[in-house]
Amino acid sequence: MGKELPAYTIRIAKTPEDVQKCMQIRKEVFIDEQGYDIRVETNDDDHRSTHFLLVLSETDEAVGTIRLINENNQLGRFAILKEYRGKGLGVPLIEALHEHVREKGGKEVWCQSQAADPTQGGVDATGFYKRLGYVNRGEKYMKEGTVHQDMVYTIPK
Ligand SMILES: CC(C)(COP(=O)(O)OP(=O)(O)OC[C@H]1O[C@@H](n2cnc3c(N)ncnc32)[C@H](O)[C@@H]1OP(=O)(O)O)[C@@H](O)C(=O)NCCC(=O)NCCS
Repeated sequence: MGKELPAYTIRIAKTPEDVQKCMQIRKEVFIDEQGYDIRVETNDDDHRSTHFLLVLSETDEAVGTIRLINENNQLGRFAILKEYRGKGLGVPLIEALHEHVREKGGKEVWCQSQAADPTQGGVDATGFYKRLGYVNRGEKYMKEGTVHQDMVYTIPK
């Protein structure tokens, strides 16, 4: 499959069906692919979050999701289905979240990025966030069995 950016729409998941599509993407990426425990993948934060869903226009297939915990502007559970990565879909999805936070008057968002060593079979997403302007806050730490790094992004005015 090529690198070209397919047509897509991004919406906030407001119906149970859309929320379920977000959860299905997360299941495929974090549980089936990355091996996270199902008991930590979905948690109480899901009830206090805004869930974003990216859908391909041509096929109506839901291929990406990200969640914003409303009370502290923490983003997470950011996932694009494996076969659709590297096509430029992740950037507009996270930018839609930034815009949502800007509209509600937020000044920054932050995340707990996976920061494990890929040569040891881990996932390091810090490079993705860094390219968007995120900066490290504090030191790396262990969470849910994986190395993480807090990263912060200042919302442009
Ligand atoms: C993180 C993720 C959502 C990014 O989605 P994506 O669709 O691949 O992102 P894009 O195609 O928009 O990538 C934009 C750019 O960032 C780069 N990039 C992606 N992941 C990167 C990484 N880990 N480190 C550095 N750069 C990265 C891409 O190569 C691309 O660069 P290019 O424009 O020069 O081609 C996706 O890789 C994913 O679902 N990963 C698995 C789940 C995960 O680990 N999520 C993060 C949890 S903290």
